[in-house]
Amino acid sequence: MPEGLGEESPCNPSANPTLEQVLEAGASRRGVMRGALLTAVGTLFGTSVPSMAARAQTPATQGLLGFKAVPISTRDTVTVPEGYRTQVLIPAGTPISGAAPSAAGSGTDQARQIGAGHDGMHFFPIEGRSPYEGSSQDALLVLNHEWVEPRFLHVAMSGRPFDSNAVPMKDGVREPEDVQKEIDAHGVSIVRIRKQAGGVWAVARDPRNRRITGATPIEIAGPVRGSDLVKTKHSPDGTRTRGTLNNCAHGVTPWNTYLTCEENWAGYFKNTDQRPAQPREHSRYGVRARSRYGWELARGGDDAFARFDASRKGAAPTQDYRNEPNTFGWVVEINPWDPESTPIKRTALGRFAHEGVVFAPTVAGRPVVCYSGDDAPFEYIYKFVSARPYQPGSASGALLDDGTLYVAKFNDDGSGDWLPLVFRQGRLIPENGFTSQADVLVNTRSAADAVGATKMDRPEWGAVDANTGEVYFSLTNNAGRRPDEVNGANPRARNLYGHIVRWNEARNDPTSRTFRWSIFVLAGDPANSKGLNGRPLTADSFFGSPDGLWFDRQGRLWIQTDYAGGASASGPYAGFGNCQMLAADPKSGEIRRFLVGPRGQEITGVTTTPDGRTMFVNVQHPGGDTSAEDFAAGRFTSHWPDGGNALPRSATVVITRNDGGVIGG
Ligand code: FEO
Ligand code: CA
Ligand code: CA
Ligand code: CA
Repeated sequence: MPEGLGEESPCNPSANPTLEQVLEAGASRRGVMRGALLTAVGTLFGTSVPSMAARAQTPATQGLLGFKAVPISTRDTVTVPEGYRTQVLIPAGTPISGAAPSAAGSGTDQARQIGAGHDGMHFFPIEGRSPYEGSSQDALLVLNHEWVEPRFLHVAMSGRPFDSNAVPMKDGVREPEDVQKEIDAHGVSIVRIRKQAGGVWAVARDPRNRRITGATPIEIAGPVRGSDLVKTKHSPDGTRTRGTLNNCAHGVTPWNTYLTCEENWAGYFKNTDQRPAQPREHSRYGVRARSRYGWELARGGDDAFARFDASRKGAAPTQDYRNEPNTFGWVVEINPWDPESTPIKRTALGRFAHEGVVFAPTVAGRPVVCYSGDDAPFEYIYKFVSARPYQPGSASGALLDDGTLYVAKFNDDGSGDWLPLVFRQGRLIPENGFTSQADVLVNTRSAADAVGATKMDRPEWGAVDANTGEVYFSLTNNAGRRPDEVNGANPRARNLYGHIVRWNEARNDPTSRTFRWSIFVLAGDPANSKGLNGRPLTADSFFGSPDGLWFDRQGRLWIQTDYAGGASASGPYAGFGNCQMLAADPKSGEIRRFLVGPRGQEITGVTTTPDGRTMFVNVQHPGGDTSAEDFAAGRFTSHWPDGGNALPRSATVVITRNDGGVIGG
């Protein structure tokens, strides 16, 4: 979703302490606290990370980055290093299942085509045994479709009236066919892809090719299943819902299934009840009196669309959709190998604006651990530890239904604490308004407020370095942080460029309750950045607003950006060019620009074949910076990937080396 759409506006009114308050907490402690802060800030220079000594010995990373950096660019193309080439695969609208629909299809056709807004993605080798081992020529590619831009999706109707949200609407009413198409362009695609003779990749027919959409039947599992908070007219027993929405980044389970994460779902609903009638499970997440797309305004009042109005209408929750928003904001498990399987919302992982989810390396007989960020200003980073141990061969998604959800507290002395979000523990008691574990989970943000978590600068993707166990998280930006709100882990007021934080769990045990953190890089232009070596980023390495993060199996950290740049950018992002992808050496801190995308897009989603010789990267919303005036005149900032006067479309880019070598090496 492009920067500036306002979907990540702050909803956190809690009074967790700012640094200023900590510093003012007591004169006798003041000297100690200031000293501690200086220590934490010192880690920005990479000089005194206490946990470094405890790190596992890593293989030599000499030559980890073997390509020549590409310069920034404002061209309407994908630029990769010398010796590399690209191919466009599965642009939005590509038919994948059933009878081949037309390219300009109906809502029903769209449910058999690749969706819009490509995002998180994984290459599942076709053998179906491991998510990381097997064929490098044949796979199920599974990818998220975060959102739609109706003016591009419905461009065939561009003569029709659009409202201020660029949604086709007449007299406050939407056409059901349009709404259905928008719902069907969301969700997830599962598509078999094969490398052809000559090295070109193509979609293959397969009974597993499938679209999960904003309308697909989905089960609710974990502690929230059956709770009063998710009972609706559609599911009076609170066990089911319809669809998954705003699927941003993803996760890959150790048992070879896919997790899709619901991020800015709140904007799909409206609630016109007068405060204080608005429950915190709406207000704390940004459900407002108007929805982004107006799906609830579809002519005819079909229940499938009316459910997006969460205002109270009936006498009881089972007579309306006041609880429909509570069935969104989850991590959803999809088994790509079984086309008949029902996706499952795993509620033990908490409800928030989930960016993605990433697993720590698994150890047989030990719990499964995964991390997830809540992408909004001043929100939190979470960790889930399963109650039961991981057993290879028999592990399943049921492991994600029973365990402890923690939220991170980053102390200014470089230490960190994982605070449990468990009903009846600490402040999560009835006296403070928490009535059950289901209540704690539906109101994860409020529970995290109550226990005193650290407010972060928009946590986006996480990634775990398998060599060291270190966990990295992107904090994309937070222009709203005031000078009196900085803390060690979010050290910049008006953080326009973002940073990447990393930590080691105590004893290198992912289940630990404490950790040691440091800052890997403060992003920004060469005048406003700092790398691990304490020096600014350079022409070859500067970037802003880190978003996607991913480790390849050689240990390179890939960094993807999401900012409003390009040729017309003014202000802090003037001169940054189009959004890009860089590679980093986690040991030396060296960063090198690998790819620059076309105009008006963000780069998001990356995976490779098991042999590392083919990389897949997603380009989302090319041309997204086209002004309303230019759109009306048929002038788009981007025509990628089709060129000419074509409409821009999200698509996957396949990247290979001319010499067949490992990408990035
Ligand atoms: Fe969907 Fe936070 O990016
Ligand atoms: Ca995005
Ligand atoms: Ca993102
Ligand atoms: Ca982003």
